[in-house]
Amino acid sequence: MHPNKITITKPDDWHLHLRDKSALSTTVSHSARAFGRALVMPNLSPPIITVDDAVSYRERIIAEVPKNSNFQPLMTLYLTDNTELKEISKIKDSEHVLGVKYYPAGATTNSSNGVTNIEKVYHLIEEMSHLDIPLLFHGEVTDHHVDIFDREQVFIETILNPLTERYPDLRIVLEHITTKNAVDFIKDQSKNIAATITIHHLLYNRNNLFLGGLRPHFYCLPILKRDIHQKALIKAALSGNPKFFLGTDSAPHTQSKKESSCGCAGVYSAPAALELYFEFFENNHELDKLEGFASFFGADFYHIARSKKTITLEKNKWRMPKEFIFEDESIIPIHADQELQWKITEN
Ligand code: DOR
Ligand code: ZN
Repeated sequence: MHPNKITITKPDDWHLHLRDKSALSTTVSHSARAFGRALVMPNLSPPIITVDDAVSYRERIIAEVPKNSNFQPLMTLYLTDNTELKEISKIKDSEHVLGVKYYPAGATTNSSNGVTNIEKVYHLIEEMSHLDIPLLFHGEVTDHHVDIFDREQVFIETILNPLTERYPDLRIVLEHITTKNAVDFIKDQSKNIAATITIHHLLYNRNNLFLGGLRPHFYCLPILKRDIHQKALIKAALSGNPKFFLGTDSAPHTQSKKESSCGCAGVYSAPAALELYFEFFENNHELDKLEGFASFFGADFYHIARSKKTITLEKNKWRMPKEFIFEDESIIPIHADQELQWKITEN
């Protein structure tokens, strides 16, 4: 059966980069088109380290939410070696902060203030486990002798696996997973441990990075892997297992910062992410699994109510613009100048 019109519970994006200041006028409206809520990453420069930082960042985001939208940003704190224990305790009383993001120092964009050694933050993780605050991982080791395609797998073996034994009650999200190793690890763990899956890691593999030349707009971290890993992610997303849910990792960078001799990591997917997840589930004949993945499992994991709103998409072709304006420059979105099959019609 191929329905031409589908209404589902309004989805949430459980991993999103909105940036700050003038960027917000572009990024917020793109996500608010499709998602009811989004978990906003804290890797600004300087990062969002305290609950007060998160509350004022949230207000700057809310100021850019289009009038006809009820989009709600949900906030995260950026863990550093020097994060104070009292900030972790404050999260429990905060309405707006849902979790703490762990960037290994040097792993990705704006991660230089990240954690240099997990042992330095054991006391903070202990408190998160005690207060039942989710810890969200950028799961890659940063040692330069480890091959870039192996960094997620080595992180799981050397950091994450021991951590789950040390803190069995800690709720963990392994963000934007890219390998079969990650899928297998998540499936083997308790229900405390979940993962987000991006649309670009479902649609592409590392060949896309080099198709006829170097393709900087496919460069993201963790980097795209070979097709056996892509196939494992596809199977996980389509499986209906609630440990796997939607997180776009939409990560905007200007065209000049992507098309550079040292290009930034990130795929700007927000302008088409939901439509592409629809297309992906449809092409794999599993459209009935989409609502769980996009609208239920993440909310359940974070212990917040599922959305009561809906969104309707119709089979109706449209073309993604070649570019958008972002920070007074241009930004190239995913699927730029290509056709999309599904269109949001009611929201
Ligand atoms: O590709 C990425 N871009 N991966 C990340 O982990 C960070 C993100 C960004 O902030 O640009
Ligand atoms: Zn991210």
